[in-house]
Amino acid sequence: MKKFLAVLTSVALGAALAGCGSTDDSGSGSGGSAGNNGGGSSGGKTVGIAMPTKSLERWNRDGEYLKKQFEDAGYTVELKYSDNDSNQQNNDIEGMIADKVDLLLVAAIDGNTLSQTLDNAKSAGIDVIAYDRLIMNTDAVTYYVSFDNYTVGKLQGEFVRDQLDLDNAAGPFNIEFTAGDPADNNAGYFFNGAYDALKSYIDAGKLVIPSGKTTFEQVATPSWSTDTALENMQNTLASYYSGGTQLDVALCSNDSTALGVAQAITSDYAGSNTPIVTGQDGDIANLRNIVDGIQTMTVYKNVNDEAAVTLEVSKAILEGQTPDASLVDKFNGIDASYDTESYNNGVKNVPSYLLVPYVITKDNLQVLVDTGLYQWDADKKYLESTATTT
Ligand code: BGC
Repeated sequence: MKKFLAVLTSVALGAALAGCGSTDDSGSGSGGSAGNNGGGSSGGKTVGIAMPTKSLERWNRDGEYLKKQFEDAGYTVELKYSDNDSNQQNNDIEGMIADKVDLLLVAAIDGNTLSQTLDNAKSAGIDVIAYDRLIMNTDAVTYYVSFDNYTVGKLQGEFVRDQLDLDNAAGPFNIEFTAGDPADNNAGYFFNGAYDALKSYIDAGKLVIPSGKTTFEQVATPSWSTDTALENMQNTLASYYSGGTQLDVALCSNDSTALGVAQAITSDYAGSNTPIVTGQDGDIANLRNIVDGIQTMTVYKNVNDEAAVTLEVSKAILEGQTPDASLVDKFNGIDASYDTESYNNGVKNVPSYLLVPYVITKDNLQVLVDTGLYQWDADKKYLESTATTT
């Protein structure tokens, strides 16, 4: 199965998507801009947005959509990317506090290292929304906006169950897991959701893990790195599959890891079957792989909707309200729930607005086009982003 695989790196894609023409990921000057204070009821307020990195495609989209929506609503936006470096993110957030932003939106690089900085934000009277990733061990986080992270993993596991017809097929089938960054609180939810959906089949011996790597710690991928996922999968294939053992499933928690795993399978897997490869996000390179049959599915999270929900929560906070379950009615039909139970950050249950993810395969790519965020390329074969430059 040694096919040539044109892997567009997510770095290059991210840069293209952000329209920045470079892969510069430095915190300063990486997207910050003065907004137009003309519209909306923002009263000239400034929102500081801390994104993890430009090297993973989705955060370019998040940054772009958030910036646009907040500026359209009349806010000034200070947007920083911190090169997946938690020290830099702390510094970038300190800079925004010094700039006297009125609200902070933070997608944490390492959910465990921001407590002191966010305590400083709290002392300065700045509310903090944890964006997509929960921030741990601080009471300075007022709200959490994300997707139902456990359901993301569950959808991946259930997809595998249905594809292999595990309730009826004799099996056994071989599966390997690739999970995300241990510093990202979401990563455990994704892994657990997938593992729990498949656990009864693993326990029954219908699904077998030849590598024996059954725990999150054993399959985690620091920084969600494509290269690390590639190397790990190459090692697994060399150690456990070289003797003709068939790999049926590579369960990957997201698209950046699926990109590396699919590349390892393409170059290093000797079997003649096509393993099921899961993902999450709808990154452009992965959508190409789905069309080409190299990846099987992705769990899609509409981050434009996540930005819209974040805007509503932010507006309410900045207008002095205390957002609660009733705010969901203002989400313009976006499917989301209010949850005060599921996300405890070690200090408190953080009230959460959770959006709904869904499964994308080769057969329903048009659903993405219908969001207005993707379009077919000239040959009507692959999807590309409709994102405009910023
Ligand atoms: C996000 C995923 C993303 C991953 C790597 C997670 O926190 O929820 O959508 O794939 O980070 O960027």
